[in-house]
Amino acid sequence: MPGTLFITGATGFLGRELLKRFLQRDPELKVAALVRGTDRDNADRRLRDLLGGVFGEGAGAFAGRTRAVLGDNSLDRLGIHDDEYATLAREVTHVVHGAASVRFDLPLDEARAQNVKGSQGVLDLADAARAATGRAPRIDYIGTCYVAGDRTDLALESELERGQGFRNSYEQTKLESERHVRDRQGDLPIAIHRPSIIVGDSRTGQTSSFNVVYWPIRVYALGWWDLLIGNVEAPIDVVPVDWVADAIHYLSGREDSLGGCFHLAAGPEKCVTVGTMAELASRFFKKPPPRVITPDRFWSEIQPEMARRMKGAMKQLVETGAQYMPYFAQNPLFDVTEQRRALADAGLEVPDVHRYFAQLFDYCVKTDWGRRPLPPA
Ligand SMILES: NC(=O)c1ccc[n+]([C@@H]2O[C@H](COP(=O)([O-])OP(=O)(O)OC[C@H]3O[C@@H](n4cnc5c(N)ncnc54)[C@H](OP(=O)(O)O)[C@@H]3O)[C@@H](O)[C@H]2O)c1
Repeated sequence: MPGTLFITGATGFLGRELLKRFLQRDPELKVAALVRGTDRDNADRRLRDLLGGVFGEGAGAFAGRTRAVLGDNSLDRLGIHDDEYATLAREVTHVVHGAASVRFDLPLDEARAQNVKGSQGVLDLADAARAATGRAPRIDYIGTCYVAGDRTDLALESELERGQGFRNSYEQTKLESERHVRDRQGDLPIAIHRPSIIVGDSRTGQTSSFNVVYWPIRVYALGWWDLLIGNVEAPIDVVPVDWVADAIHYLSGREDSLGGCFHLAAGPEKCVTVGTMAELASRFFKKPPPRVITPDRFWSEIQPEMARRMKGAMKQLVETGAQYMPYFAQNPLFDVTEQRRALADAGLEVPDVHRYFAQLFDYCVKTDWGRRPLPPA
């Protein structure tokens, strides 16, 4: 694919996998990556380090067609310097927008400034590109299945606002962001990709992100905490990062994905339950299964007593874990009809978590949960 891809979020967990695929699979493509930094040199250095981290000694082969664009989602015009913005508007043929804050604990206005403003900035850049060249760039927008918030029914790919509530500012601002993006799907060429919970690579287990499902499994495996606070029958939908990146890369090359929205999720048939995750963890770490209690019982009977006695590291552990707790209590199921139809020809079937669970947690053990990263494969 010739042209220039403007990618945001390339330094992140999913973004680096996307960057890798676009550079390796589209040899004529130039890439401009939005990178935060203290100045241009710092952004350049971050990009060089990123390429080194992704490609190891082979990074030099990709450096010539990759450049850093210093910027920030939360600033006007994505914080991009005027000259660079004008150049980008003339050159860009494709945008992949993944930059977002994935923190669950940001105050709503801060989360909005990162997530909603950034998406608006990308839409404005597409308008500027159309004004400059007469042609709007294609946009592949990365949303999340969890715009479904606290729903517990089957969420469809066509649905957005169904009166749901939100469990944190991340879910709410990703919904607000997607609302803006959907509003422009009629006049800009946009595809929306909604991953569920992304875990490590299904072949190597590699991950740079150890939150959501990793967190309770880590504290259980290390013996810091023996309770699983949740509902064993709650569905929990996880997908490996290599499959998500392959799917987005493939769909981004298909005209017929424009105007669409795709749940990049395991879906009702392949998603497991919290109880199954606990069994898999128990088998892998050769430990008795965690004791399961419901969040209601935890908050009413156990937490008040703990709060009186807990201090320091233990207090922090519980506070961190509390952010993820809702995802072990109840979740929607994600319909994947559109995703399966769109990916059928590519043979990109979502892998079953039973097949790669051991790879995920082998990687965690080998890297001491990310503290001793392995060199690039
Ligand atoms: N991980 C999941 O389970 C999951 C599930 C569903 C959807 N998603 C979506 O996938 C996308 C990527 O998530 P991720 O897990 O890869 O997150 P991540 O590892 O935290 O990466 C986030 C990326 O966004 C960039 N970013 C954050 N705030 C920015 C700002 N103000 N300006 C410019 N860049 C900014 C980060 O840059 P720095 O390096 O400068 O921090 C980083 O490159 C997000 O849109 C997220 O909503 C993720």
